[in-house]
Amino acid sequence: MAGMLEGKVAIITGSGGGIGREHALLFAREGAKIVINDLGSDRHGGGRGGEMADKVVAEIKAAGGEAVANYDSVATREGADGLVWSALNKFGKLDIVVNNAGILRDKTLLNMSEQDFDLVVDVHLKGTYLMTQAAARTFKVQGKGGRIVNTTSLSGLLGNFGQGNYAAAKGGIYSLTRTASLEFARMGVTVNAIAPVALTRMTQDLQMMKGFTQENLGPQHIAPVAAFLASDLAVDITGAIVGVQGGKVFLYKMTETAGVTKEGGQAWSPAELRERWAEIAR
Ligand SMILES: NC(=O)c1ccc[n+]([C@@H]2O[C@H](COP(=O)([O-])OP(=O)(O)OC[C@H]3O[C@@H](n4cnc5c(N)ncnc54)[C@H](O)[C@@H]3O)[C@@H](O)[C@H]2O)c1
Repeated sequence: MAGMLEGKVAIITGSGGGIGREHALLFAREGAKIVINDLGSDRHGGGRGGEMADKVVAEIKAAGGEAVANYDSVATREGADGLVWSALNKFGKLDIVVNNAGILRDKTLLNMSEQDFDLVVDVHLKGTYLMTQAAARTFKVQGKGGRIVNTTSLSGLLGNFGQGNYAAAKGGIYSLTRTASLEFARMGVTVNAIAPVALTRMTQDLQMMKGFTQENLGPQHIAPVAAFLASDLAVDITGAIVGVQGGKVFLYKMTETAGVTKEGGQAWSPAELRERWAEIAR
């Protein structure tokens, strides 16, 4: 039986381990040819090497799939362009980009260095922007639509203590996803984001992960959602922010309260705002 992604060419960033690796193994089983990108860094962005990406490529090939390794950083223009070039050079086209690469440098804002802020924002937000732009330019030339699946986080959507850099980057990915979904709609390119929770090297020592196992909160729960959004099944879904936590799948939506309009449409005074705050916030 033909796989759901038969004939498709996908780039999956940061797919040398964790969630990205699960995406890659499932995409390959579903018939996609894949560029396995990974810088091979530690979870804080230190070091680099080709081993992680090579290993996943070998796994895919051993199972009869097609994949090529790429070790570029998504945080640079050359890296992002080089990644798209890898897909075109090796497989002749590009259909899908999954922006998944990421690092953590957790610190409270009072203790965060400018370098910790910049590096995290560069890998997540700038990397997603650069990859999105490079892919969209190719999708436009090809004229056959495309799929972009980004990776945001509940930290970016709701805020999280000690993650000012990461939350700002992931919140940026939320708005970039929404904006790109509007801008690329007429090209037939869908842009969605996943907000996962999964046990990986990034999260294994977090307090909130205590009591969970690879079985009930492993990254194998996230990959089918990415494959679905990347497939023809999701042709009419764009701009969605999909939460996945183990077996639970749901959507995040920005809400606006009904609000209160002042009599006669006049400006509110600060004292009136205080007085009627509960009504405004309801
Ligand atoms: N695990 C979770 O619960 C969780 C929650 C919310 C969001 N996320 C997001 O999911 C994505 C995957 O995270 P994970 O949990 O699998 O962690 P992970 O550390 O296992 O995977 C991230 C991968 O990205 C690679 N990488 C880092 N910087 C790179 C760069 N500049 N260019 C290319 N590759 C780079 C790393 O080498 C690593 O293999 C990340 O974007 C993360 O922020 C994860």
